[in-house]
Amino acid sequence: MLDSSTAEREMVAGVLAEPGLEGEVAIRLRDVNKTFGTGEQTVLALRGVDWDIYRGQLTMLVGPSGCGKTTLLSVVAGILDCDRGGVVEVFGSDVARMRGGAKTRFRMDNIGFVFQQYNLLPALTAMENASVPLIIAGVPRPRALERAREVLTSLGMGNRLGSLPSQLSGGQQQRVAIARALVHEPRLIVCDEPTAALDHESGQAVMRLMRDAAVKSDRSVLVVSHDSRVFHFADRMARMDDGRIVQVRSQVGSAQEPEAGDVWEAAARA
Ligand SMILES: Nc1ncnc2c1ncn2[C@@H]1O[C@H](COP(=O)(O)OP(=O)(O)O)[C@@H](O)[C@H]1O
Ligand SMILES: [Mg+2]
Repeated sequence: MLDSSTAEREMVAGVLAEPGLEGEVAIRLRDVNKTFGTGEQTVLALRGVDWDIYRGQLTMLVGPSGCGKTTLLSVVAGILDCDRGGVVEVFGSDVARMRGGAKTRFRMDNIGFVFQQYNLLPALTAMENASVPLIIAGVPRPRALERAREVLTSLGMGNRLGSLPSQLSGGQQQRVAIARALVHEPRLIVCDEPTAALDHESGQAVMRLMRDAAVKSDRSVLVVSHDSRVFHFADRMARMDDGRIVQVRSQVGSAQEPEAGDVWEAAARA
């Protein structure tokens, strides 16, 4: 049975989700709070987030710097624990209540994360870096490298397979990080500003891959972006402010260039 505060939270999430347009939920967040520090240093980075993110969609998260986007992605991906009492359900499993090994295992099997700073292993080539999730999952090395080559090639990196991260530009490193997140076809892909360091062509290629990864009924993609050139790849766009989701809009997800003055442009100005 729902107590009144839970019922209220379900209602808030329902209103944000625009009744009638919702599909099956991939990620369910209820009363998600995150506090950093103690005493006078306390920062409330997330303030009772209630939000549903759907399967088969690419959801984009926008909002001003410092509003909590990276913190929210990290909590969803199980990299950061939220404060006690919050619900972080990913494909029906409550990540907030998983501990240690079980959480790591769940994350490795189900989630691909692209960090804002790329976190590549400096001693490994592009192809080796991209293959890491498969190697960890026990895929034989030749097959893992072949699959990594395939994904890197689709990102325009076919001629840099043997390069070390130090030999690559920022945009090229970013594409290796994206290949690593996509390589094992995780059910959830979470990306923090994936196109920030990319030129227009590479950015569009990355988003096409993300969208392809999202439009399957058992998958979901969540992307933080400031880049209005890629807003039209979103099926749904959420605006965050001061630790809360304040607005959610459904959109066509047609991957067509947007018309001037539409909601994406409004989100860009927000
Ligand atoms: N590890 C941390 N320790 C202390 N404060 C943090 C930490 N990470 C983030 N914050 C603070 O939490 C707030 C939200 O940060 P963040 O999620 O990085 O915002 P965004 O990604 O939207 O720019 C900011 O005020 C930031 O300074
Ligand atoms: Mg951030």
